[in-house]
Amino acid sequence: MQATARRLSVVSATFSARRRLIRSVRPTRLHKSQQFNRFRFLSFSLCQGMIRHATSEDAPAIAAIHIRTWQAAYAGIVPADYLASMSLQKRAEFWREELAECRSVIVVAIEIGEVVGWASGGVSRDVDGKDVSEVYAIYVLPEYWSRGIGRRLMEKIEEYLPSSSSVTLWVLAQNQRGLGFYRKIGYDLDGEEKTIKLCDVALLEVRLRKKYQGSAQAL
Ligand SMILES: CC(C)(COP(=O)(O)OP(=O)(O)OC[C@H]1O[C@@H](n2cnc3c(N)ncnc32)[C@H](O)[C@@H]1OP(=O)(O)O)[C@@H](O)C(=O)NCCC(=O)NCCS
Repeated sequence: MQATARRLSVVSATFSARRRLIRSVRPTRLHKSQQFNRFRFLSFSLCQGMIRHATSEDAPAIAAIHIRTWQAAYAGIVPADYLASMSLQKRAEFWREELAECRSVIVVAIEIGEVVGWASGGVSRDVDGKDVSEVYAIYVLPEYWSRGIGRRLMEKIEEYLPSSSSVTLWVLAQNQRGLGFYRKIGYDLDGEEKTIKLCDVALLEVRLRKKYQGSAQAL
């Protein structure tokens, strides 16, 4: 009887010791891993920035990026008069309305607390675009080009496009930088072309397409 009682008390002491050990080890490990995750999140945010949905407060920044990027990327392609006449106030009003009415998905890229790029998309606006998504636009401030921000904006916007067989976008035929970028991330010319007029100057646009498996998360 005494031997059994002694054995039981040893077992119970062993369990208590193990519980104490688990209590002492687990929080430390958890604590360490939380710290590690926080560190990873902070370093990721600081080094790589973040992509998030735009809010109506982003409208002035989106408008400013729109105008600055057009003026840098389309000089010599789009008529200078048109580029000079782009109004920050009108663009900001347009984007405020666009965001308030949720007519499209708009994501912004943040670097050190500032909006430095954006992309928008939704259902295709083309007559042959049934069940097709469209990236309407993407703009990154020139000083942030070639840092991977465009690619991350495209990945994010594609994630939120409605489910469809493919995603298309239009780009000025003379926009060699844009064409190179889109080809690099998996888009190809699909043969469609159209002409747009800016300040009475006709500009050719070409359409690119990428096979797409959307997740229908938003819109
Ligand atoms: C087009 C644009 C959005 C690209 O953004 P970005 O941040 O400079 O692009 P990234 O740095 O993410 O490049 C992504 C990939 O494309 C490649 N790439 C970018 N531009 C390229 C080009 N002209 N030719 C070939 N590859 C190119 C990059 O090398 C990178 O490849 P990697 O990931 O293997 O290194 C940006 O240049 C821009 O805002 N241009 C003006 C507006 C515009 O033309 N918009 C598109 C038409 S609506």
